[in-house]
Amino acid sequence: MEIKLNDFRMEYNDVGMGLPLLLIHGYPLNRTLWDPQIQGLQNEARILAPDLRGFGGSDPMQGAYSMDLLAQDCFEFLNNIGVKQPVVVGGLSMGGYIAFAFYRLFPDRVAALLLSSTRAAPDSEEAKSGRQKSVELAMERGASAVVELMLPKMMSPKTYSEQPALVDIVQKMMVSSSVEGIVGSLLGMQARPDSTPTLALIDKPTLVLHGADDQLIPVKDAQTLQAAIKNSRLEVLPDAGHLLNLEQPERFNQAVASFINSL
Ligand code: MLT
Repeated sequence: MEIKLNDFRMEYNDVGMGLPLLLIHGYPLNRTLWDPQIQGLQNEARILAPDLRGFGGSDPMQGAYSMDLLAQDCFEFLNNIGVKQPVVVGGLSMGGYIAFAFYRLFPDRVAALLLSSTRAAPDSEEAKSGRQKSVELAMERGASAVVELMLPKMMSPKTYSEQPALVDIVQKMMVSSSVEGIVGSLLGMQARPDSTPTLALIDKPTLVLHGADDQLIPVKDAQTLQAAIKNSRLEVLPDAGHLLNLEQPERFNQAVASFINSL
């Protein structure tokens, strides 16, 4: 499905019935990241999965994509499809950074939070300069050069050895990202604010999910989220890395389904 927002055309999935569950993908990915959830959770919730600007079928836009801008896009998306009630806001990695921005901007539109493979802390100086190098790489050599560096860290070692077909799907998903999307998100993530002060303000039920073998964001970042968010619970999934929802879809869906049913 597609919709025209203020300055671009967005593609999205809208399937299932019940409490709306907004699923925000990470970088450099797209809404097909959520295919196992779109398949497996549509009896539990109404799943709304947009392609962020520059990714999947949504238009590639120039410029930096601040986390506020991407949260605003999600808000416009919900309004445009007539979802005006509070929703469960779920995000993976960069999607989690966007979920924090969404919470700060539109707290009344959040029924609950699902924070997966994410962290509250901003980029360190080292991470910022790494982003800069990736921006240059993407502009000089395209998406595939960035993907080549990142792909070996996206999943757990066990997934690389036991699920080659999944590795192939993820590689294709990443490579399909536009250079505008890659550069815009890198600049946005590089400049993102510290969400640590937000954690103490969150008063909505929150499920934190993390892969035990996440090579990009360590489990201790998820523990920090759980310790600081009042009404939160953490589940660490074994044999899963950064893309735990793809690597261990049944366990992930089970955790989300029981969370939604508890709301
Ligand atoms: C993501 O998966 O969205 C990114 O790895 C997040 C990041 O680079 O900080």
